[in-house]
Amino acid sequence: MKVIVTGGAGFIGSHIVDALLAKGHTPFVIDNLVSGSRENIPSRVPLFEVDICDVKKVAAVFDEVRPDWVCHQAAQMSVSRSMREPIFDADNNIMGLLNIFDNAARVGVQRIVFASSGGVLYGEVSTPAIEDYPKRPSSAYGISKWVGEQYLEFYARERGLQGVALRYSNVYGPRQNPHGEAGVVAIFCKLMLAGKVATINGDGCYIRDYVYGTDVARANVAALETTMQSRFTAVNIGTGIGVDVNEIAAQLTRFTQDYLLRTETGLRVPPCHHGEARAGDLRSNLISPGLAGQLLDWKPSVHLTDGIRQTVKWFAEQIRVPT
Ligand SMILES: NC(=O)c1ccc[n+]([C@@H]2O[C@H](COP(=O)([O-])OP(=O)(O)OC[C@H]3O[C@@H](n4cnc5c(N)ncnc54)[C@H](O)[C@@H]3O)[C@@H](O)[C@H]2O)c1
Repeated sequence: MKVIVTGGAGFIGSHIVDALLAKGHTPFVIDNLVSGSRENIPSRVPLFEVDICDVKKVAAVFDEVRPDWVCHQAAQMSVSRSMREPIFDADNNIMGLLNIFDNAARVGVQRIVFASSGGVLYGEVSTPAIEDYPKRPSSAYGISKWVGEQYLEFYARERGLQGVALRYSNVYGPRQNPHGEAGVVAIFCKLMLAGKVATINGDGCYIRDYVYGTDVARANVAALETTMQSRFTAVNIGTGIGVDVNEIAAQLTRFTQDYLLRTETGLRVPPCHHGEARAGDLRSNLISPGLAGQLLDWKPSVHLTDGIRQTVKWFAEQIRVPT
């Protein structure tokens, strides 16, 4: 099938491109490269360097490609920027999303899969949230993801396509951009490999559900391929296992230290520092992957320790510290 992957040059999107290629599909990427990179995708995959908000250029891409499916990953994804600039967030995550969905409907796309977020929809939860759990987005980013799901349901109902919203938990792994507000794994990994101090917010007892990037990519391909009974479905993509930031930092310290000891740099990983707690940080957030098992035959396959080991290896190779 021909698949347009928006944000396909980013962290999760590029793993989706790889997973689509492995299943014999033909991906095309729309990405403005604001945080993604050409190097993340094979050179044979066409990249349209276009902003999802650009009405004329996005229409031209859909006219040229005439995709069967769309996988919408491109987004403004900084929670804090969404709080400072809610209009910028809505421009990308609502108007840009509508531009993609509307063109998809216009050219007869059969199915759209949309990257939503369990982390920001369910709020404070101490046992894994199921899909029916009340939605209480507290940031502009959370509101725009929730609105995006409702627009997908609207397009599915009114324009005869199928929509699947995948509510990711905290995604981590190779290719995650360690700048800005990326996940804690990528940020700490880069600091520790440079022998710098990583700062844990507050007491670090903030429980999250960490799911590996390639597992999320596999879920996206399953959501595109699997026969679905409903026009619109929302499915959690996480592990249901809660781990706090102190545990993440301890595992990263162990693997990055092992790595540095094998190099000639003389660098060592300093102990983490505990800084100020961040206002509004949830104490606990995790999601149940049960429905994904039933509907998509999906369950996470990469254990956290293996995933962290692979992520450290990948970041170390990027830095190319001499051994
Ligand atoms: N990483 C996570 O933990 C997580 C959790 C929940 C949901 N999500 C969602 O998953 C999706 C992918 O996130 P990611 O972690 O891979 O981030 P990422 O920043 O690596 O990928 C986003 C991609 O979209 C592109 N992009 C951004 N704005 C664009 C625009 N206006 N026009 C065209 N391209 C644009 C970027 O250049 C980048 O390649 C996002 O929708 C995000 O909200 C991510």
